[in-house]
Amino acid sequence: MLRVCVFASGRGSNLLSLLQHIEEGLVKAQVVMVISNKSTAGALEIARSHGIPAVHISDTHFASEKEYIERLLSLLKQYDVQLIVLAGYLKMIPAEIVERYRHRIINIHPALLPSFGGKGLYGHHVHQAVLEYGCKVSGATVHLVDVEYDSGAPIIQKCVPVLDDDTPETLAERVLQVEHEILPQAVQLFAENRVVVNGRKVTILSKK
Ligand code: GRF
Repeated sequence: MLRVCVFASGRGSNLLSLLQHIEEGLVKAQVVMVISNKSTAGALEIARSHGIPAVHISDTHFASEKEYIERLLSLLKQYDVQLIVLAGYLKMIPAEIVERYRHRIINIHPALLPSFGGKGLYGHHVHQAVLEYGCKVSGATVHLVDVEYDSGAPIIQKCVPVLDDDTPETLAERVLQVEHEILPQAVQLFAENRVVVNGRKVTILSKK
């Protein structure tokens, strides 16, 4: 069973959706640990209520960046993590960890990358920017994590329409429904070993 660690900074609805897909047998993976940089993150509560180790870890707790990275790496090793899922995690993953888990870290972004991604474009800022631009579609992207924000190759993207009377909140809600579908789907693709990375291109092998 694929061993997954979820990193989350917020309420954790993507974590919850992943756990529900696992409970329903739709995703053959196990969330072995949840890490948050925020002690009050709803995601930590969700983890605890599912009996999953929930760890609050922030770089501010450490004397140096090196110690912070060592702690993260030792936790990932201790729990034998095979896939890292960033689900609303607002901190940059240190380059050393990206290297160590190359092609084994994925992120969900609430827009169709490469549009509306990068530093500062998170949460409602994304949906506001999409509306201000006058886009007719938006959507969500699950992508590989690289050392820059939102820059890794897409694995799954799915569109939603933008409606004339949308507010950032109504658009966020529509996009979130899609996030809750494609993030578990992507984890299942890793569980089935169907993700092949060739430079910037991710190919999904057909089901055996
Ligand atoms: C989601 O919109 C995700 O795409 C973004 O942050 C939000 C997290 O929501 N990166 P939740 O904490 O999973 O409910």
